[in-house]
Amino acid sequence: MTNSIRTVYWENDAVVFIDQRLLPGVETYVISRDYRQVAAAIKDLSIRGAPAIGVAAALGIALGAHYSQALSLAALKADFEVICTTFSQTRPTARNLFWAIEVMKKCFHEACATLQALNSLKQSLITEACRICGEDIAINRQLGAYGEILIANGDNILTHCNAGALATAGYGTALGVIRAAWEAGKRIHVYVDETRPVLQGARLTAWELVREGIPATLITDNMAGFLMKQGKVQKIIVGADRIAANGDAANKIGTYSVAVLAKAHKIPFYVAAPLSTFDGAIKTGKDIPIEERDPAEVTCCQGVVLAPRGIGVYNPAFDVTPHSYITAFVTEKGLIHPPFRKTVPAVLGSSR
Ligand code: MRU
Repeated sequence: MTNSIRTVYWENDAVVFIDQRLLPGVETYVISRDYRQVAAAIKDLSIRGAPAIGVAAALGIALGAHYSQALSLAALKADFEVICTTFSQTRPTARNLFWAIEVMKKCFHEACATLQALNSLKQSLITEACRICGEDIAINRQLGAYGEILIANGDNILTHCNAGALATAGYGTALGVIRAAWEAGKRIHVYVDETRPVLQGARLTAWELVREGIPATLITDNMAGFLMKQGKVQKIIVGADRIAANGDAANKIGTYSVAVLAKAHKIPFYVAAPLSTFDGAIKTGKDIPIEERDPAEVTCCQGVVLAPRGIGVYNPAFDVTPHSYITAFVTEKGLIHPPFRKTVPAVLGSSR
């Protein structure tokens, strides 16, 4: 891939990230040396998408520790806790965020047990965060290789939200599968749901596909059912923010509607996600925390007011697709097929 997008990475003692709020109009990279700025960027969707949030948190934790003024181990430990808490309070749904914080905590505690110098401790956090970042891209490529087998020459594939390079450290999950199929020379076409309220499909997925030269058509969210009825969609592939042990999957609001429509029209519905998105501790989708966001995301669009002042608004950012609507999961360990109640815990158990 010549056109590769790097969403968030470490460079010259700083965290660098593309400001996704400004896309597709402006391509700006922010260079941050303040972990609070990285945490704020996750909150305001400058950095978004579950794996990208996890990677940004890992890099942000390393950044916070790197610039800590602590002069003793006890003071550094106290700073580290505050930094981790700050990231844990950014967004509640993406499992990858909490997974990354756990990995960074484990790294810090192990380093504390073996290293004395504060600089060495800080360096081990940077090394670990960069490893998580690089590994995310490798995982997506692996996942793409497994998933592209599902895609046939001539397929029209529908996707919802952005599960592309921008939602990860690079390459993407659902869009990684699409990229891999395209790179394998398959003749494919993608239908992109615009994904209100924040338009991750229209702004981000469309931007990635146009950049890559993959044939794609943008539709509004309410058109998907009509396209399926017309026989225009052969496969559906989306990402996920958190997947329960029974296979219930939280993803961007609107995914559930697409899954129900897919079942009604007998269209395979795939969810592509790394194992770090699976939450084995949560039995079913009922226990997945669903973020509610600012009502202004619904009443306004790109700064334009659409609704009268005083109207009530409900703005859940995610919904949960019950496992019975999911044909298979695509992961870096291969495909996971039903019965998910058995197969998901088996894959999670064998990867520990
Ligand atoms: O609110 P967002 O933009 O962070 O939501 C993102 C999604 O729902 C993605 O589909 C999901 O994180 C998978 S990204 C590989």
